[in-house]
Amino acid sequence: MTDPLLGPCSPLVPPLYQSSVYNFPDLDALDRVMNGAEPGFIYSRDGHPNAASLAAKLSQLEAARWTIVCGSGMAALSACFLGTLSAGDRVIASESLYGRTTKLLREELNRFGVKTTSVNVSDLEAVRKAFAEPARVLYAETMSNPLCRTPDLPKLAEIAHAHRAKLVVDNTFATPVLVRPLEQGADLVMESLTKMIGGHSDLSLGSVSGNDPALVASISQIVSTWGLAAHPFDCWMCERGLATLELRVRASCANAAQLADWLPRQAQVSRVIYPGREDHPDHTVARRILGQGFGNMLCFELKGGREAVNRFMRQATGIPFSPSLGHVATTISHPETTSHRYESPGEKLRQGITDGLIRMSVGVERFERIRDEIANGLSLV
Ligand SMILES: Cc1ncc(COP(=O)(O)O)c(C=O)c1O
Repeated sequence: MTDPLLGPCSPLVPPLYQSSVYNFPDLDALDRVMNGAEPGFIYSRDGHPNAASLAAKLSQLEAARWTIVCGSGMAALSACFLGTLSAGDRVIASESLYGRTTKLLREELNRFGVKTTSVNVSDLEAVRKAFAEPARVLYAETMSNPLCRTPDLPKLAEIAHAHRAKLVVDNTFATPVLVRPLEQGADLVMESLTKMIGGHSDLSLGSVSGNDPALVASISQIVSTWGLAAHPFDCWMCERGLATLELRVRASCANAAQLADWLPRQAQVSRVIYPGREDHPDHTVARRILGQGFGNMLCFELKGGREAVNRFMRQATGIPFSPSLGHVATTISHPETTSHRYESPGEKLRQGITDGLIRMSVGVERFERIRDEIANGLSLV
């Protein structure tokens, strides 16, 4: 049918459907859409064209049968847990997670009778032991925030499935350009699209992808009912970011690898953490699991602790301090006072999150520009 406004033309770029609700010519048409006999949308909390279009592209990227887009990474993660867990269930979770995820598990889900046991997921024997008590979900980050611990996904999947548990992973740090967790055995993969996939720090979105048709039905229902849906404008922006994702990942990984070589040679730096370095505890696994590079995230520690970080920040003004990641340009953050602020001092120490630790999200600028700005910052540390 020819469009009355566009005639035979169609827009090159997907249009933005900002409407929160859709019209129907009659009840029969409504029934056909509600029964799934015809495609269509009713109310944007339940679904809209921009979310559907973005989800289709993400499914391709993740090699998934389905993807559901949510209003943030935390909304997507909440949808994963609400869709797989009930009161009385147990989660075996990595002990190195984004701080807000730890809070979701230990405080929010705990209030609804879900218990969490934390393990070092790089220690497969510890994971096996944790299954001595039944668990419904094994949860890990493919590359952990902030220290880039990279567990052996196929082995984790094998252990989880042997105990009839689901492997759920957060792939935000790695992105599906470096690893497609569903191909490595994960049952659900969650991404914070707010980060590298959106890529420009101007939207808030998350996604859940999987292959199991039973899970898509229950998670869709949860997203509608708990109100976790994404807004059309953010989805539209994210599709635009997606177009350059692979280019950005490749360029920023190459910059990060060069920085991971250069930083240890600076006198003010005591430690550099990057999975591409042979001294990273998961280097061998990362080499096997990740394609196209070791990621754009790295951490380095300044010898002078918090005050050295303050001096670095005040001097290296060309590298913004912004407690997020995956921006097109390089940014830094400080896990001790941001993402892991509410962890106990003992827990931070155990994870190696010290007050001198800087987390860097490396961008796509010319390498020399990033290096010179860091050198400038270090000159006054
Ligand atoms: C690894 C990781 N997972 C999930 C999230 C949450 O994503 P969002 O901020 O989009 O809710 C973050 C946010 O920083 C993160 O770093």
